Amino acid sequence: MNASVQFKPKTRSRSRRVGPVDLLSCIDSIARQGLATLPVDETRTMKAMAYRLSRLRSRACTEIGELMHPAPANGTAHPVQPWGWCDLLETPTTRCGVLTVFRGQPIPLHDHPGSHGVVLVLAGAAAIRQYDLVEPQTRERQDGLVHLARVGDRIHREGDTSWFGPRHGNAHRVDARTPICVLLELMVNPYPWSERAWYFPAVREKHDQEVILARRVLPRGQQRRPA
Ligand SMILES: [Fe+2]
Repeated sequence: MNASVQFKPKTRSRSRRVGPVDLLSCIDSIARQGLATLPVDETRTMKAMAYRLSRLRSRACTEIGELMHPAPANGTAHPVQPWGWCDLLETPTTRCGVLTVFRGQPIPLHDHPGSHGVVLVLAGAAAIRQYDLVEPQTRERQDGLVHLARVGDRIHREGDTSWFGPRHGNAHRVDARTPICVLLELMVNPYPWSERAWYFPAVREKHDQEVILARRVLPRGQQRRPA
């Protein structure tokens, strides 16, 4: 297993060796916090948590080599898939996973219905542009066109976080600014994957445009048909 890869972001003068340590130490912190929080008489819960976290840790160790897959020498996108997602934890109330984005292959604008989320940059840098629906009722327009207002636009580097809520910044686009950007994503009240929508600009977007018109695309089988 390729346990670690050295990243050298061009935008920073220092280099940093990034490996599974960042992610595994995060899992260990969750375990410590859980043990410190749960009542001592909750033996069954503690055993269940320890079991799940040990599986999570084991899976992270297995997957980390793929997650940290080195970019091609010219820094172009991953040859097989535009981005990677690895589920680390999935419960009815929480979803956690690692997202790997490659330069030149942005994740298109999409939403996270009803969820609160935090994104932590583990390695590399990414431009994250966030939007709000201008009028929620426009989601019901049969032509699928909606107006979205930009509420956030910045480059996030290692250690930076970005958050979204059900009503603020819930839609975002992620664009790697280094050959690889690895992000840890934690969501509370996760939405069913089948409810996520994608948004594609209906007209050519200007760089500084604050409100865009986009076509909302629902998951396959849920497209609304014109009456
Ligand atoms: Fe997202």
